[in-house]
Amino acid sequence: MNSSPLAILLFAVQPTFYRDVLPILQDRCQSCHRPGEIGPMPLLTYGDARPWAKAIREQVKRRKMPPWFADPAVGRFSNDPSLTATQIETIDRWAVEGAREGFPADAPPARRWAQGWNIGVPDAVIAMPQAFHVPPTGVVDYQFVILPAKFDEDLWVTMAEIRPGDRRVIHHAVLYVRERDSDWLRDEPVGVPFVPQGKRVTTSDILAIYTPGHAPMVAPAGMAKKIPAGASLVLQIHYTPSGKPAADQTRVGLAFQSSAPERRILTLQINSTAFRIPAGAGHYRVTAAGTLPNDALLLGMFPHMHLRGAEFEYEVNAPGGIAETLLHVKPYDFYWQIYYQLAAPRLLRKGAQLRVTAWYDNSPNNPRNPDPGEEVTYGEQSDEEMMVGFFDVAVPAGATKELFFKR
Ligand code: HEC
Repeated sequence: MNSSPLAILLFAVQPTFYRDVLPILQDRCQSCHRPGEIGPMPLLTYGDARPWAKAIREQVKRRKMPPWFADPAVGRFSNDPSLTATQIETIDRWAVEGAREGFPADAPPARRWAQGWNIGVPDAVIAMPQAFHVPPTGVVDYQFVILPAKFDEDLWVTMAEIRPGDRRVIHHAVLYVRERDSDWLRDEPVGVPFVPQGKRVTTSDILAIYTPGHAPMVAPAGMAKKIPAGASLVLQIHYTPSGKPAADQTRVGLAFQSSAPERRILTLQINSTAFRIPAGAGHYRVTAAGTLPNDALLLGMFPHMHLRGAEFEYEVNAPGGIAETLLHVKPYDFYWQIYYQLAAPRLLRKGAQLRVTAWYDNSPNNPRNPDPGEEVTYGEQSDEEMMVGFFDVAVPAGATKELFFKR
């Protein structure tokens, strides 16, 4: 059979792996789908992707991958990985039309992923000096480790990444900056994991958070987080047993800039601990609000709930203005704790009210519900609930949390 010009043209526009699909995988998938990251299989090469073609098509058509839960009608976010309709169509056709390889010469330049760290080569790496042994079963209290690092002068952190030693047993980790004068965990040992005897909650600033799907802290240009001279870094880790014994030695990577930036980033939160979610309630609402004590530039938001979390919303109400929704996460997915970084930082005026609203599904319809028959209150473990709206703001470089909260 002679090829008709039409057939040749059709062949030419049939999507191929190297020309059409690989650029999408590089841009939107490989951050997780490569060795050492959380994706269950690598998607670096044609050999990697070919057997998954059908599954890839399904996941992207249903918009399950890449994971993202912000209502597209509300706000714009610089870390939104969602595929465009055209990209989804390309993958769809590629998979349906035989998942062709095409020509390696059409491939975009290979993306050089850093080995291990996602922030490049860190200026400093601080590790837990000894492993924590996670039992195969049971519930493990939050562990705290005061890292053995001394800071003799102020440091400005532009990037920070928490790198679990064994991801399978880490539910989340938070890295706090405990300032010199803070008495939080003052009598606890340095370098060894412990469960605090005294108070666990702290107003210490947060430098980085690890949860599946949470990108490392990367400060926008002209901004940084501060480790003031004399401060210590404290890791809080929630271990969840995986059925087998495990040992974890988590590391922290930091990148610095030598001079003070224009603005300092602070991580603040609005939360509620005084709620009772009735047994069986399908759409139970909890709200909390705070008033901005001073002007601040809002950079991003990070909602946190547990297994009954269903939806989460942030709203701002400027003095004399009307309420405006900044972020609406729906559905909320406990297994994807995602930070939503605003595409354009937003000035919040002194006096503006920031309100967060959480909805919980404690009904039997929620497949993740550990026990619909139970009234649920605040607690750290996943079968208890939390309600926290974290948010990052930029303030003048000379500000501290105390100064910021002086009205
Ligand atoms: C933020 C990290 C992340 C990104 C980005 C991401 N994935 Fe995933 N992917 C995961 C994880 C973790 C799983 C397994 C858990 C799950 O399915 O939720 C997964 C599961 C999958 C599966 C199902 C595998 C199976 O066992 O059936 C496919 C297919 C997939 N991803 C394709 C993609 C594609 C294609 C992209 C880019 C368009 C992408 N992923 C982007 C983390 C990610």
